[in-house]
Amino acid sequence: TRRAFVLALAALLPMTAAQAADIKERTLKFAFQNNKGHPQEMGAQKFAELVAARSGGKIKVKLFPGGQLGGDVQTISAVQGGTIEISVLNSGILQSLSKEFAVFDFPFLFANPQEADAVTDGAFGQGLHAKLAPRGLVGLGYWDLGFRNITNSKHPITRVEDIAGLKLRVIQSPIYVDIFTALGANPTPLAWPEVYSALEQKAVDGQENPNTTIRTAKLNEVQKHLAQTRHIYNPQSLIFSKKLWDTLSADERKIITDAATEATAYQRQVSRQQANEALEDLKKAGMQVTEIAPAELQRMRDKVKPVVEKYSASVGAETVKTLYAEIAKVRK
Ligand code: MLT
Repeated sequence: TRRAFVLALAALLPMTAAQAADIKERTLKFAFQNNKGHPQEMGAQKFAELVAARSGGKIKVKLFPGGQLGGDVQTISAVQGGTIEISVLNSGILQSLSKEFAVFDFPFLFANPQEADAVTDGAFGQGLHAKLAPRGLVGLGYWDLGFRNITNSKHPITRVEDIAGLKLRVIQSPIYVDIFTALGANPTPLAWPEVYSALEQKAVDGQENPNTTIRTAKLNEVQKHLAQTRHIYNPQSLIFSKKLWDTLSADERKIITDAATEATAYQRQVSRQQANEALEDLKKAGMQVTEIAPAELQRMRDKVKPVVEKYSASVGAETVKTLYAEIAKVRK
């Protein structure tokens, strides 16, 4: 009949339109640890805007900042399971899935962020992200968290001896426990969303994080001393749930990978600019800042050498050799 023909035609129309663009209406959850104004959140915001613009508003990226959906360890499982689609977190914490990621927590590895960019954007970093696929994750880029520094409520740190005996909150990854044990501290692994109250209640004396994270989390309210130890540089991995990735169209994947590349460049720039501003703000807020003399940094480096050796052995000598060779190529 004519009516059946019209109905059949009408049913075909939306299909044709959808095929032309091959983008489905979707809302993706993007969870991360820091709050509004932090370079991590600004990068996520940029990514969300780019994805929305390029998908004609069909793909919405909803941000969940401040660890409201859980800490990093919990988030990794959720992204693997597909209940959270996207996250960005310290690359080193992914050593729970693939042991090579431990290299990103090696103390005093990178002299500056540019060395880290060369390694992460090159074959080494891309190769590590490729190892995540069988573990349910797609690595879309490396962002910048920055150099970690120690804060505490007890006394200024200028020498390695000043770290001794401090009860320090560390990331929930065994290498952090080993590093801070080697430095003489009493390390306590805790998820990031619990850190402010642990410091406030004096369950721990201190913690370590980049200046930008210390500022956004307002740790100056609960910490007096800030030592610029710059002991670890954290790249962060932008990760996407492979469960969802495998169902996306080529058009959708292109929108997401292009947005990730652009957001990565923007995020790195913002994060590096904010690192110095954050230090000035923390001084103004009353934190007592100490710089560490090069000879003292060398003593810290000597103390953690056995830890680097231990993890180098588990990562594999060849991989570590390749990494050092990549850094040497760009070291000034
Ligand atoms: C942590 O210490 O858990 C992280 O470095 C927090 C962050 O992602 O800024």
